[in-house]
Amino acid sequence: MSKQPDPSLLVVDDDTGIQRQLRWAFDDYATTTCGDREAALAAVRKAEPAVVLLDLGLPPDPDGPGEGMAALREILAERPDARVIVLTGQKERAYALKAVSLGAYDFYQKPVDIDELRVIVSRAAYLRDLARESRAQQAEAGRSAVPDLITTSPAMQRVADQIARFADPNVAVLITGESGTGKELLANGLHALSKRRERAYVAINCAAIPENLLESELFGYEKGAFTGAHKTTVGKFEQAHGGTLLLDEVGDLPLSLQAKLLRVLQDHTIQRIGGRKSIDVDFRLVAATNKDLEKLVETGAFREDLYYRISEVRVRIPPLRERPEDAVLIAESFLVTWTAEQGLRRVGLSPEALDAIREHTWPGNVRELQNRVKRAAISADGAITAGDLELAEPEPSEGPATSLREARRSAEVSAIRDALRRANGNISETARLLGVSRPKLYQLLSEYGLR
Ligand SMILES: Nc1ncnc2c1ncn2[C@@H]1O[C@H](COP(=O)(O)OP(=O)(O)O)[C@@H](O)[C@H]1O
Ligand SMILES: [Mg+2]
Repeated sequence: MSKQPDPSLLVVDDDTGIQRQLRWAFDDYATTTCGDREAALAAVRKAEPAVVLLDLGLPPDPDGPGEGMAALREILAERPDARVIVLTGQKERAYALKAVSLGAYDFYQKPVDIDELRVIVSRAAYLRDLARESRAQQAEAGRSAVPDLITTSPAMQRVADQIARFADPNVAVLITGESGTGKELLANGLHALSKRRERAYVAINCAAIPENLLESELFGYEKGAFTGAHKTTVGKFEQAHGGTLLLDEVGDLPLSLQAKLLRVLQDHTIQRIGGRKSIDVDFRLVAATNKDLEKLVETGAFREDLYYRISEVRVRIPPLRERPEDAVLIAESFLVTWTAEQGLRRVGLSPEALDAIREHTWPGNVRELQNRVKRAAISADGAITAGDLELAEPEPSEGPATSLREARRSAEVSAIRDALRRANGNISETARLLGVSRPKLYQLLSEYGLR
């Protein structure tokens, strides 16, 4: 069995005596020391420390918290999962709390008691490992049968399984779901998982093109068929021959074209506009819409016969608000890939930002999520906050506390949430952090309706 590598520790303190003392005390860690913010950031990039001991009073401002706080922000922006323990002097307690609210894992008041500090550091390193492991497991679990589709929600996993199952048989698939839920992504997935994957994949958005243009886009036209038809042009039906055709926003297809589409689906042939020759077309049809087609059929806005033709099998994508666990997972993974693609520095999401993501109702679904994360990644100057996402910070309770009882309750809820987060959901650890027994914790969890 290979030996686990030593956990890595970075000590940032301008006092070289403390540097020496801690290097000695933590000789079973891969320990690096440095004395200012710039060196700290370089060390964080290079050594990726699991735990950072950070003195708040750093030069050029050794008596104030300014440099230390700035260092904290930069370290967390660079390595959101580093556990930073802030070291403070006697009079800096207020800053220590501020540091924790900025994302520091904990604080420790000097003078240093080596035994005590060792316990704190080793627990921090342990919790970080746990968090990493669970993230890796989550990322693993988040992968689905459909390329690029990220999800841990059981309902969405079922959708992914359906897509995989429907990929090969040549059945017309209708994908429904609100805007931004991933209809195009799933249509892509159907093609990528099918036997037709090496052939064309052609998509057309029926809502984006005016009626007369839409017809020529779909059917193509012969030279001279109408003014402006300078040369013979192949339409989407022909382009998709042998492959897959996505009719996106099919609910917006005008009635005249619905009749023409139905004929194509029945005959498997088309005629270009202005042409007389019948051309065989063989494509696999995928249709998508955010409209309720059955309702449109009732009101006569959509042909019933066409509806049955295009929906031999149906896939319904649940909106993002019905799967809050996905919102967080997709946000985190999108943040990593998008910042890397753009060459932006890596930033993390603060705990409040994660809460805000869980609580928001996401009317624009995953597209809205991506837009908010993009804007936040550009504007954040540390770990991303709820404000950077332009989301309200969720309140632990409705409105201001009206009574002592209410105040106590809301304080308890937020303390429990915080401890759960720190303990990564581990109940024993949470109980220990809160200083209550496990049964008491269970009682509180059920009383407050926490998980
Ligand atoms: N489960 C998911 N995992 C990863 N990305 C997703 C997921 N769902 C949607 N997206 C992304 O969100 C954006 C909007 O999805 P899209 O398929 O265009 O939605 P729709 O066609 O339903 O409006 C796309 O960039 C898509 O890749
Ligand atoms: Mg779409």
